[in-house]
Amino acid sequence: METVKIIFGDKVCELPIIVGSEGEKGIDISNLRKTTGLITLDPGFANTGSCTSAITFMDGEKGILRYRGIPVEDLAEHSIFTETAYLLINGKLPTSQELNQFSVLLNDNSLIHEDMQFFFQNFPRASHPMGIMSAMVTALRSFYPELKINEEEINLTVTRLLSKVRTLAAMSYKISRGHKVIYPRPDLNYPANFLNMMFDNPVRPYYIDNTLVQALNVFWILHADHEQNCSTSTVRMVGSGRVNLYAAISAGVAALWGPLHGGANQAVIEMLESILKSGGDVKRAIERAKDKKDPFRLMGFGHRVYKTYDPRARIMKKMCDKVLDKLKINDPLLDIAKQLEDAAVSDDYFIEHHLYPNIDFYSGIVLRAMGIPTNMFTVMFAIGRLPGWIAQWKESLDDPNWRLSRPRQIYTGLGKTRYTPIDQR
Ligand code: CMC
Repeated sequence: METVKIIFGDKVCELPIIVGSEGEKGIDISNLRKTTGLITLDPGFANTGSCTSAITFMDGEKGILRYRGIPVEDLAEHSIFTETAYLLINGKLPTSQELNQFSVLLNDNSLIHEDMQFFFQNFPRASHPMGIMSAMVTALRSFYPELKINEEEINLTVTRLLSKVRTLAAMSYKISRGHKVIYPRPDLNYPANFLNMMFDNPVRPYYIDNTLVQALNVFWILHADHEQNCSTSTVRMVGSGRVNLYAAISAGVAALWGPLHGGANQAVIEMLESILKSGGDVKRAIERAKDKKDPFRLMGFGHRVYKTYDPRARIMKKMCDKVLDKLKINDPLLDIAKQLEDAAVSDDYFIEHHLYPNIDFYSGIVLRAMGIPTNMFTVMFAIGRLPGWIAQWKESLDDPNWRLSRPRQIYTGLGKTRYTPIDQR
């Protein structure tokens, strides 16, 4: 086994190199502090692996993303969201019988306890759906006790979550509009059911367009997992305290909300709208993004891991053209987005900083075409990311190296200081 030797004063520590199945290497520093008294410092964890994982492989230099070994391009083309969810959570593609059973379970668990509707009614109308979603997922624990004694019970909790979160999301939209809640239908598949719960209404039945169903399948497949990103690491970290699954997922939803993470899809549309409103001056947006004195960043550009085109963005861009074409929508935001991309990818700053479109750059335009309101975009991401969060949580439960997550720090505050009574300050 390869090792790395750390010499610190008179102490020598030999640290093993751990090699992943795709050849990536990491130094196992578990014994570093014990042997040398040193810890590592890595703000933002850009160089730190928190676990070993067999779920998702990413190569940020080559623009590769695979779930359980299968390229995301293949899944986007051939799979459906529920099948990809099964793959991530169970580690293998389902047989048709297994997929059928999974779909039946998803259907059987898709209703929400009627009392949960009272919660919704009392959120202020202007609440952000991500805040509501996070609260409602935690609340699920009170209505549906977590079962995790054996594999079958874990599966029931997992299926409940996958199914009910989708219903909760559509319900929150209906209630925010003051509209009648639409219940899930047993004859519809997972994405069609979601669209129907969102847009059907008693006086205008919703026509379910197959192109949109397919687009939603692809949108959710592309979001289904992304290894140890901010929200997934949050789910693992909160879960490491052995909290219930609902609470761990609710923490993941909260982490996803931020504009640098899942909230970027909403931020992209807001940015494109403001560029359009100010006359479509794409060059000015590029200049502002490069100006270090200006806090403005090109939303939907850049990624911590991808230093090339995000493979998901490529699929999303194609999907965007396909959906708009099929629905005969001429969205001026798509023109602005394409102009921005063209300007950025040929600009020295963006080339030198390896900044390319990420998944959020085109996804909002697809969601707009479906009729999804901007403040629901990150909720759409959350529904898609659920299988990944669950798979990662499950993996951490079975990890023989599992420990409570508890990072250290280098303290830089005051030395021992005497307490000053209030009248002497
Ligand atoms: N526009 C302009 N400059 C940028 C951008 C951007 N979008 N992203 C990074 N930079 C610059 C940054 O100013 C810095 O420059 P310098 O080294 O000269 O000071 C350099 O690139 C590195 O930036 P960083 O913030 O240290 O990089 P990071 O790896 O910590 O950040 C990121 C990754 C995604 C937070 C960042 O690229 C960003 O803020 N992008 C916009 C928000 C966005 O689209 N987020 C969605 C990410 S994909 C969805 C998901 O997986 O969550």
